[in-house]
Amino acid sequence: MDTWIRKLTASPEDEDIYIQAAQIICRGGLVAFPTETVYGLGADGMSEDAAGKIYAAKGRPSDNPLILHIADREGLDRIADKVTEKAEKLMQSFWPGPLTLIFEKKKEVPYCVTGGLETVAVRMPSHPAARELIRKSQTAIAAPSANVSGRPSPTRAEHVIEDMAGRIDMLIDGGSVGIGLESTIVDMTVDPPMLLRPGYVTVPMLEQVVGELQMDPSLMEEAAPDVKPKAPGMKYRHYAPKAELTIVEGELAEAAEEIARLAEEKRRQGYRTGIIATEETRRFYHEEDVRVIGTRQDEETIARHLFAVLREFDELGTQYIFSEAFSQQDLGQAIMNRLIKAAGHQIIRL
Ligand code: TXA
Ligand code: MG
Repeated sequence: MDTWIRKLTASPEDEDIYIQAAQIICRGGLVAFPTETVYGLGADGMSEDAAGKIYAAKGRPSDNPLILHIADREGLDRIADKVTEKAEKLMQSFWPGPLTLIFEKKKEVPYCVTGGLETVAVRMPSHPAARELIRKSQTAIAAPSANVSGRPSPTRAEHVIEDMAGRIDMLIDGGSVGIGLESTIVDMTVDPPMLLRPGYVTVPMLEQVVGELQMDPSLMEEAAPDVKPKAPGMKYRHYAPKAELTIVEGELAEAAEEIARLAEEKRRQGYRTGIIATEETRRFYHEEDVRVIGTRQDEETIARHLFAVLREFDELGTQYIFSEAFSQQDLGQAIMNRLIKAAGHQIIRL
C-alpha cells in the first residue's frame, strides 16, 4: 500500500488533514500520528479487525496489548470499569499528558486490543494533533509506538517513514516530539497502584498525588532480566539498535576513560564504534562517532534524544556502541530503563 504523508503547518489547512485521517481510522485503516511522548500507530480501538492490523504492521506479538487513547472523560467511561478515587486524582493531575493508567476493561473493548487480558491501558494525550485526531474519529484510538517491534520508538516523522512506509495508510507529520520516551504506566487495578513502566511522570510526582506506589518486581535492578513483568511489552528485547550496546557505569571521568578505551580497542580491531556522551563528558572522547545526547544538568534533553541517537547509529552502520550511565532518580529512572533494555542488560559496573 502507499503511505500518504501529510505535514502539519499550524494553519487552517490542518483541518483537512485531520478529516482525512479520521476517515481512514473510521474505515478501519492505520494512521501514524505525533503525541507528546513518541509517534503512535493508530487504529480504531473498538474494532477487532482494525486493531488487529496494528500487530501485523509492527510485527508485534499478539499477547502484547495496546494503549487506548481518548480525548475526554466520556471516552474513559466507555472503556474502563472501577475507576478508583486514586485514579481520579492521577487523571486530574496528569491528564491530558504522558501517563497511562490500567483499569478493568468494559466488555466493549475487544480482546485483541488487550492481548486477551481483562484489563485495558488508557491514556489521554496532550499533543494537539493526537487530540484532534481522536475527537474527529469519535472512537478510542488504539496506538502502540509507531516502530517495527523491537526497534527504538520514533520521535520524528522520518523514523516512522523508515519503519512503516508501505505498511500504513497515512502519516501525520508533526515534526519532532517533545518528550521522547513513552508514557509512564501505572496499574490502578491494585492497591497501592503499581508502576509498570517508568516515564516522564516520575515516581515522586505520582507519590505526591496518591501516596505510596508499588514497583513491578521486574523493574528492580536485582530482578532483571528473568522476572516476568506485568506489562507484557516490557518482557521483549526492545529499543534495540543493530549494534551491540554496552553501558559503562561509574564515577563520570573514570567511566568516560573506560568507554574511550573500550571503543578504541574495538576500533583497532576494525569495527565501527560509537559513543553516547553528554556535554559534561564530550572532552574525554576523540573518536569520530561521538553523539552528545544532552546535558546532565537537564535530563529532559537526554530523554528527548536517546531514541534518535540509537537510530542514527544504525544508519551509520555502527557495530559497537558504548554509553555512559545516568542516575536512576526521577526522569533518570525512565532513561536508564530504556537504555538497559536497548543494551540487553549489558552493563559494566566499575
Ligand atoms: O507514550 C506512549 O505510551 C506511546 C504513545 C503512542 O502513546 N505508546 C506506547 O505504546 O508506548 P506501546 O504499545 O509501545 O507500549 C504499551 C505498553 C506495552 O508494554 C504493553 O505491554 C503495556 O503497555 N500494556 C498495554 N495494555 C496493558 C495491560 N492491560 N496491562 C499491562 N500492560 C499493558
Ligand atoms: Mg513500543
